[in-house]
Amino acid sequence: REDVMEYNNLKVEIKDSVALLTVSRPKVLNALNSEVLKELECAFYELENNSDVKVVVVTGDCEKAFVAGADIKEMANMNAIEAESFAKKGHALIRFVRNMSKPVIAAVNGYALGGGFELALACDIIYASKNAKFGFPEVTLGIMPGFGGTQNLVRVCGEKIANELIFTGKMIDAQKAKEIGAVVEVFEDKEMLINSVMETANKIASNGPIGVAYAKKAILTGVNLPLSEALDLEASLFGILFSTEDQKEGMKAFVEKRKAEFKGK
Ligand code: CAA
Repeated sequence: REDVMEYNNLKVEIKDSVALLTVSRPKVLNALNSEVLKELECAFYELENNSDVKVVVVTGDCEKAFVAGADIKEMANMNAIEAESFAKKGHALIRFVRNMSKPVIAAVNGYALGGGFELALACDIIYASKNAKFGFPEVTLGIMPGFGGTQNLVRVCGEKIANELIFTGKMIDAQKAKEIGAVVEVFEDKEMLINSVMETANKIASNGPIGVAYAKKAILTGVNLPLSEALDLEASLFGILFSTEDQKEGMKAFVEKRKAEFKGK
């Protein structure tokens, strides 16, 4: 286990190959200012490069919120150039998360608004507790989503639903977020949410990590390609996996009726 860096607004705990990354600015419902964005990017970079970590879970350190959006007090006095650069900082973060080889899971309790919903959408899977609320209130502030919301929501739930949510700025509850395909499963409360998500993360962590990483790559890259190119990509990645020790071990373990011991090689 490697040393984990200290952050002003984040907590990072690593247990059994799963990292729990908690955004912690509870006084402002974990709002994302430039410092938090930078720290998140550093933390994800560190976890991507920590070979002990196989899955990352992201959550918020506040009973009321996952993340209530980008920091409105920081944005209030920005000029156009500063705002564009702020959006690009958000984009650098969500791009990094999308391109990580390890699965990233959002565990959403309470508000996931604006930049908070965008951070969750950048993750590979979103789980929520019953009290979660999702939305893009940007238009109520005279702006629009700026950390990938206009692009990632439409890819998850289609144009018409994305239009309605983004144009109205209304909030939806966890059940509705599940109906539109953004949330995979809803849990009774925060404790059940975190316990179930950690269980799922450990299940993923016990699988062949290169297989999981290549599946993520095939899915994410493939959706933006014509089907025939996407299938070629899948075939190439499928082929490469047969040159790994994990493929030999996984199939040998099946034949020997035992649990595979994957090494990520
Ligand atoms: N930025 C800065 N501070 C925020 C914040 C945000 N996004 N969200 C909440 N806070 C602060 C509040 O100002 C308040 O601070 P004070 O105690 O100093 O007044 C504290 O957090 C607690 O919040 P509330 O008192 O408002 O709590 P509430 O329970 O009454 O309401 C809420 C909760 C409905 C989430 C409300 O806080 C709210 O509407 N927050 C803003 C949500 C929002 O508009 N998010 C989108 C931001 S824009 C964006 O994200 C752009 C982008 O795409 C990049």
